[in-house]
Amino acid sequence: MILKDKVALVTGGSRGIGKAIALKLASLGANIVINYEKNQESADNVIKEVESFGVKGLALQCNVADYKSCEDMVKNIAEEFGAVDILVNNAGITRDKLILRMNDEDFSAVLDVNLKGAFNCSKHVASLMLKKKIKGKIVNISSVVGLIGNVGQANYAAAKAGLIGMTKSMAKELGGKEICINAVAPGFIETDMTKVLSEAVIEKMESAIPMKKFGKPEDVAEIVAFLSTPSSNYITGQVINCDGGMVM
Ligand code: NAI
Repeated sequence: MILKDKVALVTGGSRGIGKAIALKLASLGANIVINYEKNQESADNVIKEVESFGVKGLALQCNVADYKSCEDMVKNIAEEFGAVDILVNNAGITRDKLILRMNDEDFSAVLDVNLKGAFNCSKHVASLMLKKKIKGKIVNISSVVGLIGNVGQANYAAAKAGLIGMTKSMAKELGGKEICINAVAPGFIETDMTKVLSEAVIEKMESAIPMKKFGKPEDVAEIVAFLSTPSSNYITGQVINCDGGMVM
């Protein structure tokens, strides 16, 4: 069990990619805290699955866009588990609109959750890691859209590109303390987020992917697992695409 006795916090862990990450890290022996915003029932169900691996699980409600709530969440985890060894900033939302139809609120909401949310959690977790002298891992779930842009996603692309900039900056700041910060950039993955796409859009997207299919949440979870274990101890500040060859 390569992650035995480690503690991992996965934001937005009650479904989709976050859930797959929580289960994968639990299967490697890590105790798991998932953060959820609204759906306590789904979060509790994920915790039951997590605990079936013989590790501890805890679900904490918190809107990652709120700085103070993130501070309190990290304090709670420190009291319950003593530390956070792995943080996965996965919580994310979309508010897709063409730029001329996108309003101030659409832009800010996406930046607040997808980018500021990752800052809010990273800041408090990194502080705890430094205090406890933990050789920690932070993995940010970005997107290929942050690398190449996408029609209707100026807000989302800005947030995901910003997350890559933050990943590299934090990697430079914290590398000397052996805290590694990396990002994963998924392409199209089968989750609730992509369920809303029309058949026509899905077909068009699939034809543009060399592997001709969307990925699964588990595909992303495998990379996060690699970036969370000692196997990746000399890797920091990197962005790993998980996109069936969409961006190369
Ligand atoms: P999803 O919509 O199924 O899951 C997102 C999770 O974030 C949900 O559990 C939701 O409750 C949580 N969340 C949203 N706002 C929150 C907030 N304010 N505070 C706390 N939690 C909050 O979507 P999916 O696909 O699992 O996405 C996970 C991550 O992967 C997101 O960051 C997304 O941008 C990213 N991603 C997804 C891709 C896809 O094709 N599905 C592609 C590239 C990146």
